[in-house]
Amino acid sequence: MTHTPRRIVFATNNPHKLDEIRSIVGDSFEILSLKEIGCDEDIPETGSTLDENSHIKARYVKTRYGYDCFADDTGLEVEALDGDPGVRSARYAPGIGHDSQANMELLLRNMAGKDDRRARFRTVITLITDAGEQQVEGIVEGHIARTPSGEGGFGYDPVFVPVGEERSFALMSAAEKNAISHRGRAVAALLPLLNNL
Ligand code: IMP
Repeated sequence: MTHTPRRIVFATNNPHKLDEIRSIVGDSFEILSLKEIGCDEDIPETGSTLDENSHIKARYVKTRYGYDCFADDTGLEVEALDGDPGVRSARYAPGIGHDSQANMELLLRNMAGKDDRRARFRTVITLITDAGEQQVEGIVEGHIARTPSGEGGFGYDPVFVPVGEERSFALMSAAEKNAISHRGRAVAALLPLLNNL
């Protein structure tokens, strides 16, 4: 007996995130990107927390396009900077667009002379279906290195060293990072919710 996979939208066009979620979820769901449902707007992220922004994105898709949907939002929360860059992680350095190098340099400048280097990545995922709304989160604790290392990953990976490791995320393989990362953990928490739909 063949069975049609249920369709659900992941509110992103990031190919890495789409590949990652598709490989974890398997073939019980057909995961559609924003582009695949004809959404090419830049969904406004006007919230002041990760929870709000992931909710805004999922709600936008559910309301305008009708699809069941989940959306993520991630931030790097640094203890000595009162939780910054947090919800502003993608656009921490002033200027137009998302410049990872400039963001990382600003972070290292703001951390100069600070001995408390504890930090965490936190991902919040909001799932909205006809049955209602649910949120899950994934956290990885670690610290901010004094200098960047590694070529892998993206964003702040060269300066983030997870607890129990000496290597930055940028020195790990994708599989090593996914096994312990904020997003990997949030997706692991999402999976039982999807399987219960
Ligand atoms: P987003 O919500 O997934 O788009 O993440 C917001 C910002 O957080 C990104 O633009 C990156 O600067 C940073 N970020 C998110 N996830 C990671 C990661 O796994 N490694 C390094 N930086 C990340």
